[in-house]
Amino acid sequence: MSKKFNYGVYGVGRIGRVHAAIVQEQGQRIVAIGDDVQAAVEVAQQELDAGSAPTFNDPAEMARTMAGEIDAMIIASHTKDHARHALPFVRAKIPIYLEKPLTDDLREAFEFVEAIGRDPHQIQIGLQRRYDPALLHTKELLKAGLIGDIREIRCILRDQFPPPPTYSSRGLIIDMGIHVADEAIFFLDEFPNEVWASVHHTKAYTSPIDEGGDTAFVTFTTPSNVLGRLDLSRTHSSGYNNETYIIGTTGTLHTGRFAGYPGPIHVELWQHDGTKHPESKTFEMTYLQGDYPEFLPRFDIAYRQAHQQFRDDIDSGAAFAVTQNEVLDAQVFVEAAHRSAQQNGARYRLQRFDDLPAYKTACIVNGLLND
Ligand SMILES: NC(=O)c1ccc[n+]([C@@H]2O[C@H](COP(=O)([O-])OP(=O)(O)OC[C@H]3O[C@@H](n4cnc5c(N)ncnc54)[C@H](O)[C@@H]3O)[C@@H](O)[C@H]2O)c1
Repeated sequence: MSKKFNYGVYGVGRIGRVHAAIVQEQGQRIVAIGDDVQAAVEVAQQELDAGSAPTFNDPAEMARTMAGEIDAMIIASHTKDHARHALPFVRAKIPIYLEKPLTDDLREAFEFVEAIGRDPHQIQIGLQRRYDPALLHTKELLKAGLIGDIREIRCILRDQFPPPPTYSSRGLIIDMGIHVADEAIFFLDEFPNEVWASVHHTKAYTSPIDEGGDTAFVTFTTPSNVLGRLDLSRTHSSGYNNETYIIGTTGTLHTGRFAGYPGPIHVELWQHDGTKHPESKTFEMTYLQGDYPEFLPRFDIAYRQAHQQFRDDIDSGAAFAVTQNEVLDAQVFVEAAHRSAQQNGARYRLQRFDDLPAYKTACIVNGLLND
């Protein structure tokens, strides 16, 4: 049996508490709790029944005090604070499960990766779609070539509700878009070469925070000539909606068509003759009792798998599947889309390089980093 992990958690709003509760349910211990805001710490202490765990309002102090006692960290603070909050734990060589994105500022994201390097054993990013059974099955069907060459991909992420008043977001595309930007890169095994976008205020939407709009459409192309689209909104009034539609030269793959919330997650592979392929499969969401954040039924299993894999990879020394490197790519993608939406859909060129200085230079040349 693998050992019990002692976790610290910094940033204990909605998702921080979800992550902490999941690892507790998986038999691990929460041994330290932190947040910039003491009131959030107190809510978490109560909810997680972790009153005896030491608490902190400063990540550097937490890393210093708890070094040697913490096996792993979960960091789920405000997006703008992720990199700053993660750095002391990286320096203390504590592996981190870090919520997406790296930061809300692309320059800071590059500086963070420059500071910590490309090593894929330091940080697993909370892009949980990479661990979701339905999306992993979709990936397997794609890899088997069952729809031929991909012509078009459309990734949909629509919340039912606005974010809570405590939330901070630089914009809908930056904040939500990163999930499906990474999903598109993951499915296509390709980085976009051009992107353009628009953001909109639809009718009768009110939110406690200003994200520049409630609905966004991001269009992109890739070097192999795939046409892509990300649809984002916080207005799907019948329930949280995550859908991926991939059109190939010999068939289509449709994952997660809205079928009630919570409800089944269909992975439907439609063949050239209009019939359904036998490898089509239906997955289930988690049916929860009481109050829960709206995204939890859909991704509960993925979060659980992600945490299990995080510990397995630490134990075995394997690289994490989604790290600072993958999220940096998704962040470059959404930065271009965000800037395009700010400039009436101006087209942005994108290039990615393994070499970090070359990558950064390309982003400057492509207008994604203010010099
Ligand atoms: N992977 C996912 O599916 C997913 C889902 C939601 C959020 N996120 C990411 O996680 C991060 C945190 O998001 P969140 O939804 O937990 O935001 P949140 O607003 O609930 O929490 C963020 C911060 O707000 C403050 N806060 C929250 N509740 C408080 C309370 N009751 N009293 C006082 N202060 C409180 C805390 O400082 C907390 O760290 C963001 O970066 C977001 O992008 C990821």
